[in-house]
Amino acid sequence: MNRKIIVFFGPPGSGKGTQSEYLSQALKLPIIATGELLRQEQNRGTALGKELGGFMDKGKLVPDKLIHELIAKRSKKPDAKNGFILDGHPRDENQLKDLISMIKEGDELIFIEIKVGDREVQNRLGGRRVCDCGATYHLIYNPPKVAGRCDVCGKKLYIRHDDKPDVINDRLKTYHDAANPILKYAAEHFKLISLNGQQPIEAVRRAMFEALKLPD
Ligand code: AP5
Repeated sequence: MNRKIIVFFGPPGSGKGTQSEYLSQALKLPIIATGELLRQEQNRGTALGKELGGFMDKGKLVPDKLIHELIAKRSKKPDAKNGFILDGHPRDENQLKDLISMIKEGDELIFIEIKVGDREVQNRLGGRRVCDCGATYHLIYNPPKVAGRCDVCGKKLYIRHDDKPDVINDRLKTYHDAANPILKYAAEHFKLISLNGQQPIEAVRRAMFEALKLPD
Protein backbone atom coordinates (compact mmCIF):
# COMPACT_ATOMS: atom_id res chain seq x y z
CA MET A 1 0.00 0.00 0.00
CA ASN A 2 1.40 3.43 -1.00
CA ARG A 3 1.44 5.84 1.89
CA LYS A 4 0.70 9.56 1.93
CA ILE A 5 3.10 11.33 4.29
CA ILE A 6 2.33 14.96 5.02
CA VAL A 7 4.88 17.13 6.80
CA PHE A 8 3.76 20.35 8.48
CA PHE A 9 6.66 22.78 8.60
CA GLY A 10 6.81 26.26 10.09
CA PRO A 11 7.93 28.29 13.08
CA PRO A 12 6.53 27.70 16.55
CA GLY A 13 2.97 28.95 16.75
CA SER A 14 2.48 29.04 12.97
CA GLY A 15 -0.57 26.78 13.25
CA LYS A 16 0.91 23.37 12.42
CA GLY A 17 -1.05 21.63 15.18
CA THR A 18 -4.26 23.52 14.36
CA GLN A 19 -4.16 22.79 10.63
CA SER A 20 -2.96 19.20 11.00
CA GLU A 21 -6.19 18.42 12.89
CA TYR A 22 -8.29 19.54 9.90
CA LEU A 23 -6.21 17.51 7.50
CA SER A 24 -6.25 14.45 9.72
CA GLN A 25 -10.05 14.47 9.70
CA ALA A 26 -10.27 15.03 5.94
CA LEU A 27 -7.69 12.41 4.95
CA LYS A 28 -8.35 9.96 7.81
CA LEU A 29 -4.66 9.87 8.63
CA PRO A 30 -3.20 9.92 12.15
CA ILE A 31 -1.07 12.82 13.35
CA ILE A 32 2.39 12.16 14.72
CA ALA A 33 3.15 15.30 16.70
CA THR A 34 6.62 14.91 18.20
CA GLY A 35 6.20 17.82 20.64
CA GLU A 36 2.92 16.34 21.90
CA LEU A 37 4.44 12.86 22.34
CA LEU A 38 7.36 14.38 24.24
CA ARG A 39 5.06 16.40 26.50
CA GLN A 40 3.07 13.26 27.30
CA GLU A 41 6.31 11.65 28.45
CA GLN A 42 7.10 14.74 30.54
CA ASN A 43 3.63 14.66 32.12
CA ARG A 44 4.17 11.05 33.16
CA GLY A 45 7.00 12.37 35.35
CA THR A 46 9.42 9.61 34.30
CA ALA A 47 13.21 10.02 34.45
CA LEU A 48 13.18 10.39 30.67
CA GLY A 49 10.40 12.99 30.94
CA LYS A 50 12.51 15.05 33.36
CA GLU A 51 15.50 14.82 31.05
CA LEU A 52 13.34 16.04 28.14
CA GLY A 53 12.37 19.15 30.11
CA GLY A 54 16.05 20.16 30.07
CA PHE A 55 15.82 20.56 26.28
CA MET A 56 12.22 21.56 25.69
CA ASP A 57 11.99 24.23 28.39
CA LYS A 58 15.02 25.95 26.83
CA GLY A 59 13.64 25.77 23.27
CA LYS A 60 16.33 23.28 22.22
CA LEU A 61 15.92 20.16 20.10
CA VAL A 62 15.63 16.82 21.85
CA PRO A 63 18.36 14.31 20.75
CA ASP A 64 17.71 12.70 17.36
CA LYS A 65 17.92 9.09 18.54
CA LEU A 66 14.90 9.53 20.77
CA ILE A 67 12.91 11.29 18.04
CA HIS A 68 13.77 8.55 15.56
CA GLU A 69 12.47 5.89 17.96
CA LEU A 70 9.25 7.82 18.59
CA ILE A 71 8.48 8.19 14.89
CA ALA A 72 9.60 4.72 13.84
CA LYS A 73 7.39 3.13 16.53
CA ARG A 74 4.31 5.31 15.95
CA SER A 75 4.43 5.09 12.14
CA LYS A 76 4.30 1.29 12.31
CA LYS A 77 0.93 1.21 14.08
CA PRO A 78 -1.95 -0.17 11.97
CA ASP A 79 -3.76 3.20 11.73
CA ALA A 80 -0.73 4.60 9.86
CA LYS A 81 -0.73 1.97 7.13
CA ASN A 82 -2.09 4.46 4.54
CA GLY A 83 0.19 7.22 5.77
CA PHE A 84 0.47 9.82 8.51
CA ILE A 85 0.80 13.51 9.20
CA LEU A 86 4.01 14.77 10.82
CA ASP A 87 3.68 17.86 12.99
CA GLY A 88 7.08 19.04 14.22
CA HIS A 89 9.40 16.74 12.30
CA PRO A 90 11.88 17.06 10.63
CA ARG A 91 13.51 20.02 12.39
CA ASP A 92 17.01 19.91 10.95
CA GLU A 93 18.96 18.27 8.14
CA ASN A 94 19.80 15.16 10.17
CA GLN A 95 16.13 14.58 10.88
CA LEU A 96 15.33 15.19 7.22
CA LYS A 97 17.83 12.47 6.26
CA ASP A 98 16.29 10.18 8.85
CA LEU A 99 12.81 10.77 7.45
CA ILE A 100 14.00 10.08 3.91
CA SER A 101 15.50 6.79 5.12
CA MET A 102 12.03 5.75 6.34
CA ILE A 103 10.33 6.37 2.98
CA LYS A 104 9.32 3.30 0.98
CA GLU A 105 8.97 3.06 -2.79
CA GLY A 106 5.61 4.49 -3.86
CA ASP A 107 5.19 6.73 -0.80
CA GLU A 108 4.00 10.25 -1.56
CA LEU A 109 5.64 12.98 0.54
CA ILE A 110 4.08 16.43 0.73
CA PHE A 111 5.50 19.35 2.74
CA ILE A 112 3.12 22.06 3.89
CA GLU A 113 4.96 25.17 4.99
CA ILE A 114 3.01 27.67 7.09
CA LYS A 115 4.62 31.10 6.90
CA VAL A 116 4.24 33.42 9.88
CA GLY A 117 6.45 36.32 11.04
CA ASP A 118 8.27 36.32 14.40
CA ARG A 119 6.17 39.08 15.94
CA GLU A 120 2.95 37.20 15.19
CA VAL A 121 4.49 34.07 16.74
CA GLN A 122 5.08 35.92 20.05
CA ASN A 123 1.52 37.23 19.94
CA ARG A 124 0.00 33.83 19.28
CA LEU A 125 1.98 31.83 21.80
CA GLY A 126 1.39 34.45 24.48
CA GLY A 127 -2.37 33.82 24.11
CA ARG A 128 -2.25 30.05 23.65
CA ARG A 129 -3.97 27.80 26.15
CA VAL A 130 -3.74 24.02 25.95
CA CYS A 131 -5.37 20.95 27.42
CA ASP A 132 -3.83 17.60 28.38
CA CYS A 133 -6.14 15.94 25.81
CA GLY A 134 -4.20 17.71 23.02
CA ALA A 135 -6.73 20.46 22.21
CA THR A 136 -5.30 23.95 21.65
CA TYR A 137 -7.00 27.33 22.00
CA HIS A 138 -6.17 31.01 21.76
CA LEU A 139 -7.67 33.58 24.12
CA ILE A 140 -8.65 35.82 21.20
CA TYR A 141 -8.37 33.89 17.90
CA ASN A 142 -9.80 30.55 19.00
CA PRO A 143 -11.32 30.85 22.46
CA PRO A 144 -12.92 27.90 24.26
CA LYS A 145 -16.72 28.05 24.71
CA VAL A 146 -16.32 28.25 28.52
CA ALA A 147 -13.37 30.39 29.64
CA GLY A 148 -10.47 28.30 30.96
CA ARG A 149 -12.10 24.93 30.16
CA CYS A 150 -11.54 22.53 27.27
CA ASP A 151 -14.44 22.19 24.78
CA VAL A 152 -13.52 18.55 24.17
CA CYS A 153 -13.07 17.11 27.67
CA GLY A 154 -13.95 19.96 30.09
CA LYS A 155 -10.53 19.89 31.81
CA LYS A 156 -8.79 23.06 32.98
CA LEU A 157 -6.64 24.76 30.33
CA TYR A 158 -3.07 25.85 31.04
CA ILE A 159 -0.07 27.68 29.53
CA ARG A 160 2.71 25.53 28.06
CA HIS A 161 6.09 25.68 29.88
CA ASP A 162 7.83 26.78 26.70
CA ASP A 163 5.37 29.57 25.87
CA LYS A 164 7.40 32.18 27.79
CA PRO A 165 8.81 35.13 25.78
CA ASP A 166 12.52 34.21 26.25
CA VAL A 167 11.94 30.53 25.44
CA ILE A 168 9.84 31.51 22.39
CA ASN A 169 12.84 33.55 21.14
CA ASP A 170 15.10 30.51 21.56
CA ARG A 171 12.59 28.29 19.72
CA LEU A 172 12.42 30.83 16.88
CA LYS A 173 16.22 30.85 16.62
CA THR A 174 16.30 27.04 16.53
CA TYR A 175 13.73 27.15 13.71
CA HIS A 176 15.45 29.85 11.63
CA ASP A 177 18.86 28.18 11.97
CA ALA A 178 17.56 25.04 10.27
CA ALA A 179 14.64 26.02 8.04
CA ASN A 180 16.18 27.06 4.71
CA PRO A 181 18.01 23.83 3.75
CA ILE A 182 14.94 21.75 4.62
CA LEU A 183 12.63 23.92 2.53
CA LYS A 184 15.10 23.93 -0.37
CA TYR A 185 15.35 20.14 -0.32
CA ALA A 186 11.56 19.76 -0.04
CA ALA A 187 11.01 22.04 -3.05
CA GLU A 188 13.53 20.13 -5.15
CA HIS A 189 12.54 16.56 -4.26
CA PHE A 190 8.93 16.54 -3.04
CA LYS A 191 5.76 18.56 -3.35
CA LEU A 192 6.04 21.78 -1.31
CA ILE A 193 2.93 23.84 -0.57
CA SER A 194 3.57 27.24 1.06
CA LEU A 195 0.66 28.84 2.87
CA ASN A 196 0.28 32.35 4.22
CA GLY A 197 -0.32 31.57 7.90
CA GLN A 198 -1.11 35.17 8.82
CA GLN A 199 -4.76 34.91 7.92
CA PRO A 200 -7.63 33.65 10.06
CA ILE A 201 -7.52 29.93 10.90
CA GLU A 202 -10.41 29.15 8.54
CA ALA A 203 -8.76 31.00 5.63
CA VAL A 204 -5.55 29.01 6.10
CA ARG A 205 -7.58 25.80 6.17
CA ARG A 206 -9.36 26.74 2.94
CA ALA A 207 -6.11 27.60 1.17
CA MET A 208 -4.63 24.28 2.29
CA PHE A 209 -7.65 22.26 1.10
CA GLU A 210 -7.59 24.09 -2.22
CA ALA A 211 -3.87 23.40 -2.72
CA LEU A 212 -4.45 19.70 -1.97
CA LYS A 213 -7.59 19.62 -4.16
CA LEU A 214 -9.73 18.45 -1.24
CA PRO A 215 -13.48 19.18 -1.15
CA ASP A 216 -14.31 22.08 1.19
P1 AP5 B 1 6.19 21.47 19.35
O1 AP5 B 1 5.15 21.12 20.32
O2 AP5 B 1 6.18 20.81 18.03
O3 AP5 B 1 6.20 23.04 19.22
P2 AP5 B 1 6.47 24.04 17.98
O4 AP5 B 1 7.01 23.45 16.75
O5 AP5 B 1 7.28 25.13 18.58
O6 AP5 B 1 5.08 24.44 17.53
P3 AP5 B 1 3.86 24.79 18.42
O7 AP5 B 1 3.19 23.57 18.91
O8 AP5 B 1 4.26 25.82 19.45
O9 AP5 B 1 2.96 25.61 17.39
P4 AP5 B 1 2.08 25.16 16.16
O10 AP5 B 1 2.75 25.57 14.89
O11 AP5 B 1 1.62 23.73 16.27
O12 AP5 B 1 0.86 26.15 16.36
P5 AP5 B 1 -0.59 25.90 16.99
O13 AP5 B 1 -1.49 25.25 16.01
O14 AP5 B 1 -0.47 25.29 18.35
O15 AP5 B 1 7.64 21.21 19.99
C1 AP5 B 1 7.94 21.64 21.31
C2 AP5 B 1 9.37 21.25 21.67
O16 AP5 B 1 9.52 19.82 21.60
C3 AP5 B 1 10.45 21.79 20.73
O17 AP5 B 1 10.83 23.12 21.06
C4 AP5 B 1 11.58 20.76 20.99
O18 AP5 B 1 12.23 21.01 22.21
C5 AP5 B 1 10.81 19.46 21.12
N1 AP5 B 1 10.63 18.79 19.80
C6 AP5 B 1 9.47 18.62 19.11
N2 AP5 B 1 9.68 17.98 17.96
C7 AP5 B 1 11.02 17.70 17.92
C8 AP5 B 1 11.87 17.06 16.98
N3 AP5 B 1 11.40 16.57 15.82
N4 AP5 B 1 13.19 16.98 17.27
C9 AP5 B 1 13.71 17.46 18.41
N5 AP5 B 1 12.96 18.09 19.36
C10 AP5 B 1 11.62 18.21 19.11
O19 AP5 B 1 -1.07 27.42 17.14
C11 AP5 B 1 -0.45 28.31 18.07
C12 AP5 B 1 -1.51 29.27 18.65
O20 AP5 B 1 -1.98 30.14 17.62
C13 AP5 B 1 -2.77 28.55 19.19
O21 AP5 B 1 -3.23 29.26 20.31
C14 AP5 B 1 -3.77 28.61 18.01
O22 AP5 B 1 -5.12 28.60 18.46
C15 AP5 B 1 -3.40 29.94 17.37
N6 AP5 B 1 -3.53 29.94 15.90
C16 AP5 B 1 -3.26 28.93 15.03
N7 AP5 B 1 -3.47 29.34 13.76
C17 AP5 B 1 -3.86 30.65 13.84
C18 AP5 B 1 -4.22 31.63 12.85
N8 AP5 B 1 -4.21 31.37 11.54
N9 AP5 B 1 -4.57 32.86 13.31
C19 AP5 B 1 -4.59 33.15 14.64
N10 AP5 B 1 -4.27 32.26 15.60
C20 AP5 B 1 -3.90 31.03 15.20
